[in-house]
Amino acid sequence: MKLLDGNLPSDLQTAASLLLAGRLVALPSETVYGLAALALDASAALKIFQAKDRPLADPLIVHLGTGHQLDKIARVTPSVESLARAFWPGPLTLVLPKHPSLPDLVTGGQSTVAVRFPSHPVFRAVLDLVQVPLAAPSANPFGGISPTSAQHVIHGLAGRIDAVVDGGPSQHGLESTIIGVASDHLTLLRPGPIAPAAIESASGLPVILPEVSTAASPSVPGGFLRHYSPTKNLSLVPRQELLESAPPQTARVFLSPSAIPLTDTLILSQTADPVEVGQVLYATLHQLDRDPCVHQIWIERPPTSESWRTVNDRLYRAAANH
Ligand code: TXA
Ligand code: MG
Repeated sequence: MKLLDGNLPSDLQTAASLLLAGRLVALPSETVYGLAALALDASAALKIFQAKDRPLADPLIVHLGTGHQLDKIARVTPSVESLARAFWPGPLTLVLPKHPSLPDLVTGGQSTVAVRFPSHPVFRAVLDLVQVPLAAPSANPFGGISPTSAQHVIHGLAGRIDAVVDGGPSQHGLESTIIGVASDHLTLLRPGPIAPAAIESASGLPVILPEVSTAASPSVPGGFLRHYSPTKNLSLVPRQELLESAPPQTARVFLSPSAIPLTDTLILSQTADPVEVGQVLYATLHQLDRDPCVHQIWIERPPTSESWRTVNDRLYRAAANH
């Protein structure tokens, strides 16, 4: 597998040539790294499922570089235009009625397709070179933690994919917001960097929210409860309990610093800021998962307020099934 440099035009050209030949290339995005293949070529897209051990019923997100590609894969409604103007390119995925020319394999046999325009300059440059839509789920083995660096991709998928383009650490560190689009309302299918309130104000449509709960959303086929999980046991622990003590070989992870200095602990944000916590959460889980001295992970349970929705969603899933 090749490690390519996102700053080198010749390496971007290599990535584009591999993709156009039907191969798999992991690309950096502003959310997490994605594992890309040609979206309109079913045999190329099939390799994504095989490399990730992903069930065929779990549909892929299609990434676009220019607006005119959208009509070729989805049906566009007026609410899409206002959301596109406000948030594309960026970490928003819209679920729209699918165009018949898109292979059913990409959408897991569904009549809808998830689409987004990534903002990362490397992903955009590659889309520009290939000039066709790219299907790309997160570049991790199915059920594992999404990668936020090229090293995470190598660790999870080396030997199973053709190349990864290094574009530095992902800016948001959590996957895109996914919105289901109907004519008179929108539905939050997966929380992400763009908050439901911002989507309501840009579109003028109400956003139906799932409960903040530990339950997987049945309307997202990939909303399996165990998702984004480290291999080690992960528990969410109230701050007070976490401050007191922990069993041996337990990594203690705090949302913000404590007044009492503690040894052998990790701190995700200086100010308990949910955006900052989101940026480093997956990198922290990757690091602890690989640390031979760590047997289990205890993370401070975040507040249940709206600003913590995305971090809570990912933590509940990471902590499930252990
Ligand atoms: O930020 C992101 O969205 C990243 C980057 C690489 O773009 N991608 C990503 O893809 O997180 P993935 O495959 O790991 O997660 C996409 C989710 C899955 O849970 C999938 O089931 C859901 O989107 N999805 C895809 N197509 C859908 C559809 N037609 N209807 C409902 N959910 C869909
Ligand atoms: Mg994923």
